[in-house]
Amino acid sequence: MNIFDNIDNFIFPIFIYENETTFRNSLKLEYLNDSKVFIKNISKFIQSLVDLKIYNMLIFGIPKSRNSLGTSSYGKNGIAQKSIKRIKENFGDKINIISDVCLCQYNTSGHCGIYRNNGGGKKTDLNNMDTLIDNDKTLKILGKISLSLSESGTDYIAPSSMMDGQVLYLKKILENNNFNNVKIMSYSSKHNSCLYSPFRSNNFFQSNLIDKSLYQNSYHNFRESVREIILDIDEGADWVMIKPSFWYMDIVKELKTFIEKPLVVQNVSGEYALIKAAAEKKWLDETEWCILSLLSLRRAGADKIISYFIFKLLKKILDK
Ligand code: PBG
Ligand code: ZN
Repeated sequence: MNIFDNIDNFIFPIFIYENETTFRNSLKLEYLNDSKVFIKNISKFIQSLVDLKIYNMLIFGIPKSRNSLGTSSYGKNGIAQKSIKRIKENFGDKINIISDVCLCQYNTSGHCGIYRNNGGGKKTDLNNMDTLIDNDKTLKILGKISLSLSESGTDYIAPSSMMDGQVLYLKKILENNNFNNVKIMSYSSKHNSCLYSPFRSNNFFQSNLIDKSLYQNSYHNFRESVREIILDIDEGADWVMIKPSFWYMDIVKELKTFIEKPLVVQNVSGEYALIKAAAEKKWLDETEWCILSLLSLRRAGADKIISYFIFKLLKKILDK
């Protein structure tokens, strides 16, 4: 098995920044810098991916401003919407755009939904579950986001907030608005995990205080993880996804014995950071570790892999 027999099995995550200062400051953190781009440079950046034959991308917009309800997530001129339009104008259908659908980069709480009391919440006490997330109010906003992304030309929407019924709800909205061609990659089994911390420290306020265990899956419960995938397939997801990846291969392997939809895994920021940091210390060979770990995901049964590694990896291999 060669992981590069089909580069199309890989999806590269990219963060598109609307504000230049935010972008520059984020580069100082160093984590995930290959994946960051300032909106003005988007075409050049995408071209560098195309040069490596990377055509599938998962897009996250990082807006210049946030508010309690995260309203910049669905504006016609929102960061993700602008970016999709520009990419499609310049590259057409050569690029397969998968767009993240969530609120946590856009609201002030950093939670994936909105607080029950209309976005207020006790800002200093984000772990207080009295300030519960309002599932159905969040769905309405996810619907607005999904429509605006579809109008901009996205190929897939990727709902990642783990609200109940999100796939069914969004599928209906797409159908009712004649976007039957827009597909859904669902973050079906997204586990509550410390492995997201490099991502969060780049993109969220008060990242260390956030507890998403109310709506993300517990990593203690194998059956729940499997069930969430089946539910999303029943609700109409085109691709289903498990996240994080390395320590979740038992779930991948189990599901591959009976599901038919493409199964995607997301190799998340913490998994990237572990290998990256050790490689910088020269404790291991980055290329070798990347290849063996990504290959093991394919062996377990992952059809597609979202990974921050692939840019550097392909560059290295092709430059040889
Ligand atoms: C939230 C979101 C997360 C990631 C991307 N979007 C997880 C979270 O904050 O709970 C993590 C990605 C990564 O760590 O690479 N919708
Ligand atoms: Zn989120």
